[in-house]
Amino acid sequence: MSRVALVTGGSRGIGAAISTALKDAGYTVAATYAGNDDAAAQFTESTGIKTYKWNVADYEDSKAGIAKVEEELGPVEVVVANAGITRDAPFHKMTPDQWNEVVGTNLTGVFNTIHPVWPGMRDRKFGRIVVISSINGQKGQFAQVNYAATKAGDLGIVKSLAQEGARANITANAICPGYIATDMVMAVPEKVRDSIVAQIPTGRLGEPEEIARAVVFLVSDDAGFINGSTITANGAQHLV
Ligand code: CAA
Repeated sequence: MSRVALVTGGSRGIGAAISTALKDAGYTVAATYAGNDDAAAQFTESTGIKTYKWNVADYEDSKAGIAKVEEELGPVEVVVANAGITRDAPFHKMTPDQWNEVVGTNLTGVFNTIHPVWPGMRDRKFGRIVVISSINGQKGQFAQVNYAATKAGDLGIVKSLAQEGARANITANAICPGYIATDMVMAVPEKVRDSIVAQIPTGRLGEPEEIARAVVFLVSDDAGFINGSTITANGAQHLV
């Protein structure tokens, strides 16, 4: 029987590419989304991947959503915590709401996604967790105090979980994508975006599929000794 993989924010952008790549690799995929019903319906129609709507920032909502996925598809053995948002503003203009929204989705949302599946993974002695962090969690970014803080925090989650889960054959790894051609990056003003692309030695934005292929590798049964690591995928823009 194929393993069940949960991908948060899995119907658009990098998440959609991850959901599709996992399905192609033989997983039964549940993709979550927060609000865009049309995009989710279209995604399900074109891929056959089931979508589930909940707010990852809300613990009870996440727990109930995951229970529904498990009831319909079986125990979740692979989690890709990908859902993320930006609320960019220079720090002197950043509001507490902008801070709280980003922390809620990008950091607390990762806790809310993994915590409900953790006991089952421990009991079954198998689990694969991948958190999608960001280049900007590694290097910081002008106008992203909130986002960079959460993405750096995600690395702390992964490194701690790796140590806690290792004996139960649960791995937790992070991928730090650089600038990838998604709606999120396209929302950056064109002039700023051009200046960012000029800083990428590869000379282009990344493609969502380039991140998805790394996820498929990390969640495979064979990747059991790769645990607590951070894979950097940024076209050599920032070397760590
Ligand atoms: N470094 C230094 N200075 C910068 C800068 C930078 N990277 N970006 C902007 N500035 C400067 C501007 O030149 C401007 O200076 P002046 O006042 O002297 O003209 C000032 O900062 C901006 O001030 P504004 O009042 O105009 O700023 P604003 O309130 O309109 O905000 C912004 C504009 C939100 C910062 C906008 O420029 C922006 O969106 N920047 C991109 C931020 C970014 O890279 N976000 C990443 C999104 S993609 C992502 O997050 C995915 C991922 O994981 C990689």
